[in-house]
Amino acid sequence: MAQQVVKQLFLEAIADLLHSESAKKMKQYRQHGKISTFDHSLNVAYCSYALCVRFFKKANATSVARGAFLHDFYLYDWHKTSGVKFHGIFHPAIALKNAQQNFELNDIEKNIISSHMWPLTIRALPKCKESFIVCIIDKWCAINETFGRIKININSPN
Ligand SMILES: [Fe+2]
Ligand SMILES: [Fe+2]
Repeated sequence: MAQQVVKQLFLEAIADLLHSESAKKMKQYRQHGKISTFDHSLNVAYCSYALCVRFFKKANATSVARGAFLHDFYLYDWHKTSGVKFHGIFHPAIALKNAQQNFELNDIEKNIISSHMWPLTIRALPKCKESFIVCIIDKWCAINETFGRIKININSPN
């Protein structure tokens, strides 16, 4: 499938999330390097979706995109002391709570969010291939964003 088609299908899969005012709040917070939490989430969601479409055809690519886009929906600046203590361990549960308050999620999407920091969150295990994919892609994007090596050009809305 051509990359432009994959991008279009990806944007359609998360369209309601992408344009929601609650998800846009992620633009206010810095994630890695100069990247906002919103752009980090978009990077993780697109890379995970594209990997699914290319190599894991039996995986639920739509849920991968949606769960990945909400995986860091915790809505605070973890660099500031006013943020949550032990951010690395607790933010997946906060993101899941926020996501459930704002959007309808299926079990795959819930597990993607709660397990994305595994193995740091020992008991929140990835229970399906969709969660494993996002768990790995999140770490890959975090490293590349920190060193300014990622440029996907999804054209996120303002
Ligand atoms: Fe996270
Ligand atoms: Fe993340």
